[in-house]
Amino acid sequence: MEKIVSLCKRRGFIFQSSEIYGGLNGCWDYGPLGTELKRNLKDFWWRRMVRERDDVVGMDGSILMNRQVWVASGHEATFTDPMVDCRNCRSRFRADQLPEKNGRKQCMVCGSEDLTEPRAFNLMFKTYVGATEDESAVTYLRPETAQAIFVQFKNILEVSRKKLPFGIAQVGKAFRNEINPRNFTFRSREFEQMELEYFCRPDHGLELLEYWLKERLRFYSDIGISSDLLHVHKIPPEECAHYSKGTYDIEFQFPFGVQELEGVAYRTDYDLTQHQKASGKPLEYFDEETKQHFIPHVVEPSAGVDRTVLALLCAAFDEEHVTDEKGKTETRTVLRFHPRIAPIKCGVFPLLKNNERLVGQAREIVDLLRPHMMVFYDESGAIGRRYRRQDEAGTPFGVTVDFDTIGENGPVNDGTVTMRERDSMKQERIALAEIKSFLLERIS
Ligand code: GAP
Repeated sequence: MEKIVSLCKRRGFIFQSSEIYGGLNGCWDYGPLGTELKRNLKDFWWRRMVRERDDVVGMDGSILMNRQVWVASGHEATFTDPMVDCRNCRSRFRADQLPEKNGRKQCMVCGSEDLTEPRAFNLMFKTYVGATEDESAVTYLRPETAQAIFVQFKNILEVSRKKLPFGIAQVGKAFRNEINPRNFTFRSREFEQMELEYFCRPDHGLELLEYWLKERLRFYSDIGISSDLLHVHKIPPEECAHYSKGTYDIEFQFPFGVQELEGVAYRTDYDLTQHQKASGKPLEYFDEETKQHFIPHVVEPSAGVDRTVLALLCAAFDEEHVTDEKGKTETRTVLRFHPRIAPIKCGVFPLLKNNERLVGQAREIVDLLRPHMMVFYDESGAIGRRYRRQDEAGTPFGVTVDFDTIGENGPVNDGTVTMRERDSMKQERIALAEIKSFLLERIS
């Protein structure tokens, strides 16, 4: 994990938020490569969950909502974690995360067993809307994106003219005042979620729970996370939320242990029923075939963007020993991202930076590719070093313009470039005219 955290900082994937002021615990900033990676992940989720389907539409809700949303959903009363204080060193912890010795919980910092009784700590960040800081102005930063979907259900049903089953998808920020943010970005106080609420008839819910579990596992495989690193944990009924008729956690084998990436939950009609009761506005669906009014049930695949980015980094990280032509062995650090989510798709390198024809041709290739993908032009240093820099950034392909390309070595390879593949380090010559289609085929 230390190696991954250090690579993330060195190469500009992830930095500590407000670093020059000592940081802010549980908050992170994404640098140039991390931002591209995150964007590619969210775009692919949107493509898979919304654009490629007839039965899902998108929305983008506000982060601040009427406080009554959180009262009705139950978050104001019960969205809590059990918190304990260590009387010896004054550290604070989530009671359920403390190690035990001889059946007694211990402080994670000093090992003391002198702990307070657990008390409920609400994870929502409280804030005030408007100029008066009194109770009537209180609301919260949303702790999940899902509630905006439930409270807009009726509007979206009307404008989209969808019939059950259909879903509403949303990607956006969520905030939780976690007692112990930890494991790099894994448990943060500010993070992003990708959530789908898939509404259905009550008798269809259990079947759709299985369907969405399979779909979500297919998604992880399609972004390059091998099934060997994933675990499906079926939550025992007694541990499920009282309104859930079934929940799966999709877990990933992080270097710090197997931990949840995504929850796929059958939430029945709980949320819509709560909002209908509290708002007094009908949130029912009218079934034209049976002429019945009822509150739809919902299946919810809810994934964390930041956790998935961390999983992608952990799954992609590799170090291997390679020997160069002179017999020198060195360690190659490589991020083996799937080309679909890699931050940069292709490096473009003129063999020499002081040759106008090589540089001009390389620049032309950059201009050709830029409207279609993220490319990186690099003319500085030995070509081997330039390849290594892109290996560390996870760039799957590299194009080198050399003297063959510009016809200075005779007609045989005139008009061709070297295409290098990151994982195998194999190089092949391909025609200038084929570069774009070669790459597009592999990154889509
Ligand atoms: N609407 C359902 C819901 O929010 P959740 O299991 O609390 O369910 C869903 O959250 C996902 O959001 C988690 O599986 C995780 O990926 C992400 N998530 C939750 N809390 C997080 C945190 N503190 N830091 C980073 N990601 C978090």
